[in-house]
Amino acid sequence: MNNFNLHTPTRILFGQGAITELRAQIPAQARVLITYGGGSVKKTGVLDQVYKALEGQDVLEFGGIEPNPSYETLMKAVELVRAEKVTFLLAVGGGSVLDGTKFIAAAANYPEDKDPWNILLTNGSDITSAIPMGSVLTLPATGSESNTGAVISRRATGDKQVFMSPFVQPIFAVLDPVYTYTLPAVQVANGVIDAFVHTIEQYLTYPVNAKVQDRFAEGLLLTLVEEGPKALAEPENYDVRANIMWAATMALNGLIGAGVPQDWGTHSLGHELTAMHGLDHAQTLAIVLPALLNEKRREKHAKLLQYAERVWNITEGDEEERITAAIDATRHFFEKMGTGTRLSAYGLDGSSIPGLLIKLEEKGLTQLGEHQDITLDVSRRIYEAAR
Ligand code: NZQ
Ligand code: ZN
Repeated sequence: MNNFNLHTPTRILFGQGAITELRAQIPAQARVLITYGGGSVKKTGVLDQVYKALEGQDVLEFGGIEPNPSYETLMKAVELVRAEKVTFLLAVGGGSVLDGTKFIAAAANYPEDKDPWNILLTNGSDITSAIPMGSVLTLPATGSESNTGAVISRRATGDKQVFMSPFVQPIFAVLDPVYTYTLPAVQVANGVIDAFVHTIEQYLTYPVNAKVQDRFAEGLLLTLVEEGPKALAEPENYDVRANIMWAATMALNGLIGAGVPQDWGTHSLGHELTAMHGLDHAQTLAIVLPALLNEKRREKHAKLLQYAERVWNITEGDEEERITAAIDATRHFFEKMGTGTRLSAYGLDGSSIPGLLIKLEEKGLTQLGEHQDITLDVSRRIYEAAR
């Protein structure tokens, strides 16, 4: 096991009715800006519950944060925060609203003579403070509710980039599984697949004898495989939703990634597909992952065999056959969730691959993966194999 330094300071308020604990998490004198997306929280009544929980508190709101939140929209919120002297941000929604709010939190405190897009260009390393934020999550997927990361898009340039900073980690997260009953099937699938691939990015690399992390990761994968299809079939099954919600949080709160090598190649290649073609984040992962696992089957050999046996119960056949069967099982699982696993399933013929590679190169993403050996040439092969 590798050395690690783990600090996960987000308070988790989990379960049906957890919103009643919201008030106690926010300083009484705070001027709060509630942020939300395209309006689902209005339709579902979650926003009303938030207002009720905060009765008497000084509250403003900013709506309209889009999926794959854009710098252009978020900068309007930054202006509002500065003009209104907001002291606390409360994100109510899915990963996009949470990520967008992390950017608002950092950008509002960023020196006014510097372009806040630099936060993305420096991967968050030059942030020295942020407005404190909390979250009420309505879509279990990204893990954004209790981690330091955010992914922001800039429509003008067709970029989608990540930043990370401990200053933007939410102080608390309200996780009420009932809030997820209203998700459309496609978003249920997106959430399950995103959490699944987060786990894989931190697990399916090479062995470092990290037994706790491996077995936690396998537990999360098994839970998602068991409960994902049930969430589609029985949208109001509380236990199913609760298990998925907790699995998604645990998949990217730092725990399973502590002390182990990490890949993240699937995410990097996927982000470019979203930026160029507008596919949902999880759809891009479902396209890239099977192709990447096959391309890197030699380097990931030992972990692929472990994954085959412990997650898919594949014990028959020689080693190469077992690995192929595990990759096939992964693809079938995504397809069972209703998500296409090839570019062609989204009407793409691969003609944009040269453009995708140019974008990777521009960002210096030319040595990806746990061995930094996913060069542009390897990325090209992965995109080609995903046609
Ligand atoms: O915008 P509204 O109207 O709220 O509707 C949203 C949106 O259209 C809807 N929705 C959310 N909760 C709902 C609901 N509809 C009905 N009932 C509910 N309870 O779902 C749609 C998608 O929401 P979005 O927030 O975009 O989805 P998700 O949570 O999957 O977030 C995706 C974003 O997170 C980034 C992705 O790149 C993408 O930009 N990621 C963030 C990460 C992080 N911070 O650590 C890691 C991930 O790998 C990922 O990259
Ligand atoms: Zn993801």
